[in-house]
Amino acid sequence: MAPRKIIIDTDPGQDDAVAILLALASPDEIAVLGVTAVAGNVPLPLTQKNARIVCELAGKPDTLVFAGCDAPMVRKLVTAEHVHGKTGLDGPQMADPTMPLQEQHAVDYIIETLRAHDAGTVTLCPLGPLTNIATAFNNAPEIVEKVQEIVLMGGAYFQVGNITPAAEFNIYVDPEAAKIVFDSGVPIVVMPLDVTHKALTTRPRVDAFRAMGTKVGDMVAAWTDFFERFDKEKYGSEGAPLHDPCVIAYLIQPELFTGRHVNVEIETTSELTLGMTVADWWRVTDRAPNAMFMGDLDSDGFFALLADRLARL
Ligand code: RIB
Ligand code: CA
Repeated sequence: MAPRKIIIDTDPGQDDAVAILLALASPDEIAVLGVTAVAGNVPLPLTQKNARIVCELAGKPDTLVFAGCDAPMVRKLVTAEHVHGKTGLDGPQMADPTMPLQEQHAVDYIIETLRAHDAGTVTLCPLGPLTNIATAFNNAPEIVEKVQEIVLMGGAYFQVGNITPAAEFNIYVDPEAAKIVFDSGVPIVVMPLDVTHKALTTRPRVDAFRAMGTKVGDMVAAWTDFFERFDKEKYGSEGAPLHDPCVIAYLIQPELFTGRHVNVEIETTSELTLGMTVADWWRVTDRAPNAMFMGDLDSDGFFALLADRLARL
């Protein structure tokens, strides 16, 4: 079977970095057409730089990396240095990238790529705020029906919020963009906190990364050691959730995940619950289902896949 063509839209972020590594380590299943950076965990100049650092770490300096939107569609940018550190990839020392950043704006690249491919052949994998995706849909509405599927990390139902009591970070940063995407009619698979909070970097799992004896394994272990401090203190959990790699793992082994096709609406007006993903998990309304909302994960299978693939780099 031909590899699935994807565009990764990302705000690296240590967990984004692991997701990008997983995708680039899986060429039989995934063809990464391009990586588009968006402002999120840290500002855009850092997310586009970090995306290139990760592609070079994967040994794929020819990957096309683009810079996209540097702020949400209508709101001020909210960042998450408190989780990811000032650089967004805190933990190990990282050299500046030498591979080029593409001249074209990420939004124009997304539009051009969807226009150039047959309908239903390109999957969008957003790992950060949905600003680039929604802006592309607004600028070129005809591309919406060409998207094969959107597989994104964002939102929550049972786990509620991580940046506010009601909202998950990616959705909260740009709720207007999220509403455009969830209302678009594109088939959507959602990896919410309900699933990613089951992908915890326990010590044996991090030790498995370090035991690889490779630069990639060492970097992933060092990133984990850094960003897990925040979640361990906040949740008292053993390890931290590896959010974004769940998106890529789904493309490789969808059977690792279970969920429900339900209606998901985005709160864009109430300041109290801004950015909340109101998932009709119990189907108590007659709102039309618009997303496959994941609820469970085979976490041992997930980390086995991760270790197997990262060891290839
Ligand atoms: O809430 C978790 C999400 O926000 C992840 O994508 C993480 O990288 C941050 O972007
Ligand atoms: Ca992210």
